[in-house]
Amino acid sequence: MNILAIESSCDETAAAVVQDGKRLLSSVVNSQIDIHAVYGGVVPEVAARSHIEVINPVINQALDEANMTWSDIDAIAVTYAPGLIGSLLVGTLAARTLAVIHNKPLYPIHHVEAHVYANFITEADQSSKSSIGSLSLPTRQPEFPMLALIVSGGHSQLVLFKNHGDYELLGQTQDDAVGEAFDKVAKIIGLPYPGGPSISSAAKQGDSHRYALPKAKLSDPYNFSFSGLKTAVLRAVQREVGVDFTFPSHELPARISDQQRIDFAASFQRVAVETLVDKAERAYRDFSPRSVVIAGGVAANQELRRELSERLPLSIEYAPMQLCTDNAAMIGALAYYYAQQVAPTDPLDIEVIPSLSMTKTAWHNDV
Ligand code: KG4
Ligand code: ZN
Repeated sequence: MNILAIESSCDETAAAVVQDGKRLLSSVVNSQIDIHAVYGGVVPEVAARSHIEVINPVINQALDEANMTWSDIDAIAVTYAPGLIGSLLVGTLAARTLAVIHNKPLYPIHHVEAHVYANFITEADQSSKSSIGSLSLPTRQPEFPMLALIVSGGHSQLVLFKNHGDYELLGQTQDDAVGEAFDKVAKIIGLPYPGGPSISSAAKQGDSHRYALPKAKLSDPYNFSFSGLKTAVLRAVQREVGVDFTFPSHELPARISDQQRIDFAASFQRVAVETLVDKAERAYRDFSPRSVVIAGGVAANQELRRELSERLPLSIEYAPMQLCTDNAAMIGALAYYYAQQVAPTDPLDIEVIPSLSMTKTAWHNDV
């Protein structure tokens, strides 16, 4: 089954063709990072406008790189939740229109569930016109029960999958997502947007023990909280440069030295990663899953991968970075398993839902 997938929930316009939920035939991602970097974060109206400009060429490129025409495509999948409303509307409208014109079944896909399915892509078409042939993919699909640590710009959660569509949310963040904490801390210490990649590269040269930062203590062992850690960085930077807590955070970057900046990046990253791995390790001990996967933009973090592999007694095969940050390949992978269980949706009936927990999807069957 060849699925053409479309993703436009935030600041990446993406399309991909995926076969049978595991074989990648093409994956095109048009990132808007440069457009938003000048504002220090994603501007929703600007994002929607940029999606409109590029969505058709991106979809055509995905077909072309897969050496396919519409007659080779069996179904269309599109992200309908969660995300920025204007951005979601562009992708879903394109998908609905194409489904009607080409008379294809259409599947609405939940973005956060889909992040997990990046881990199910184990093959890439070597004859593709793009560079997907050089991706370093896992050698086999994860087995159930599967523990998923989902860590993105909008979500931090631990989910136990018994089977496809059959999962339990063990815990989630009570305030900021971990990716959001990377982005906000980067701003405080004067590193460019998006904060995740810039903190992780600055942290390589830094002293991760120079600043003592707290780990949140919560009554539920699987829940997260990152807003206290972010505030602790803010207070520590203010202290370090000799100002009080009323000093505006946007004036701090100019006052800290390069050495302080990289030491803050390393100290913050150490505590954020340790927190995530502590929770994953606890869930691993409690539920003895047969596989562990990480998903979402923060799963691209090398320190997180290193520490998780070091502390968990099983071998983890990580998805390539390109499939951890937003992309359409993960949408196409999940759509295959979704389509085995759920009927397609009438293109005229699809509505976007900017805020929707993954436990509220048509696919989810709580264990
Ligand atoms: O999954 P994603 O691309 O978009 C959302 O669905 O949110 O995740 C984006 C988040 C951003 O907060 C970004 O800073 C973070 O992922 N991120 C990273 C890294 N690369 C991206 N965080 C830590 N280390 C990285 N290498
Ligand atoms: Zn995402």
